[in-house]
Amino acid sequence: MFTSNPLSGNKAEQYQQLIAQCEALMHGERHRVANAANLCALMFNSLSEVNWLGFYFLEQGELIVGPFQGLPACVRIALGKGVCGTAAATRETQLVPDVHAFPGHIACDSASQSEIVVPLIKNGELIGVLDIDSPVLDRFDDTDKAAFEQIANLFCDGSD
Ligand code: SME
Repeated sequence: MFTSNPLSGNKAEQYQQLIAQCEALMHGERHRVANAANLCALMFNSLSEVNWLGFYFLEQGELIVGPFQGLPACVRIALGKGVCGTAAATRETQLVPDVHAFPGHIACDSASQSEIVVPLIKNGELIGVLDIDSPVLDRFDDTDKAAFEQIANLFCDGSD
């Protein structure tokens, strides 16, 4: 049985604990969808002020929704479209303090106000993105960005 350990300390310390929990959760398992599903569940239940958190995987040139927590989402996103498609096309994390100010933002959950999308790069290839939405404006900063990029790397290194 999984027992969640509440995060404690300052934000950087909390992320150290969350990252250790992510590593423990994937330990001994390399299935991509299974690891994505468990990481979503762990992160969604550990983070405050998050209304949607999930993976999109690159398949035949478009992003297809994968494991997530939150309301049902758009299934397909073209590269270059919205925040996810921009992160995929540029291979750069997109940190968006106000989604309504982002040209072409795709509103799946109308509650979302800010968002961060991290590209998933495995062996130099784009395999998808990790998308985290908040109902609060300006929810994410560079500490969040660094932590999610580290979790994205752990996922790519630890999954086939
Ligand atoms: N907001 C995203 C679309 C995906 S949903 O938020 C789940 C975007 O503009 O890429």
